[in-house]
Amino acid sequence: MDVLTAINTRRSVRSYTNKMVAKDDILVLINAASQAPSASNSQPWSFVVIQDGAYLRELSQRIKAFLLEHLEDFPYFKQYLGWLQNESLNIFYDASTLVIICAKIGQGIYPLEDCNLAAENLMLAAHAKGLGACWIGFAREFLNLPDMKQELGIADNLYAVAPIIIGYPDKELAVLNKKQPEINWVQLK
Ligand SMILES: Cc1cc2nc3c(=O)[nH]c(=O)nc-3n(C[C@H](O)[C@H](O)[C@H](O)COP(=O)(O)O)c2cc1C
Repeated sequence: MDVLTAINTRRSVRSYTNKMVAKDDILVLINAASQAPSASNSQPWSFVVIQDGAYLRELSQRIKAFLLEHLEDFPYFKQYLGWLQNESLNIFYDASTLVIICAKIGQGIYPLEDCNLAAENLMLAAHAKGLGACWIGFAREFLNLPDMKQELGIADNLYAVAPIIIGYPDKELAVLNKKQPEINWVQLK
């Protein structure tokens, strides 16, 4: 699959088969992520991989409870109140693999931006390999709690930027039509 086809057909995948993604395939995705450009070639990323669907289901329950309890701190999530209150909703959509791209804070000047670029590389590489991926923003605040970082062995200087689930899509998704880009095509005299 060429790059433009991958970009134009990638979708966020929210429904997966039970098939576990092989470790070697995860390594291919992480390698693609780490080819991303970064300010001063700082490469300020570190990857956490969790391959345990039962743990992710339990984590989902803990994250929903946390967000419900602290909704005033995260007003944006109020629009998702129904989701957070839905006992059976797994915010990781029953995927068995979660890759968390963490930024090495203090390494380079734009570690968050660098990690965002790594994240898009990872999601496009997943798509090119017939895998699905979805960035789970819901998880970020919880993953950065000190207790949680300790649970997952995430060092203090790391900030979890991009939690991305990976799996085999259980159906093909149609291309999503995006808004026409707003372009200010400057004509200098
Ligand atoms: C920073 C970020 C956070 C996101 N968080 C979530 C999330 O928590 N749950 C979810 O289902 N999708 C999440 N998404 C996926 C978006 O909803 C999705 O990209 C958007 O609807 C466009 O669909 P597409 O990716 O198929 O083009 C997130 C995407 C980004 C970039």
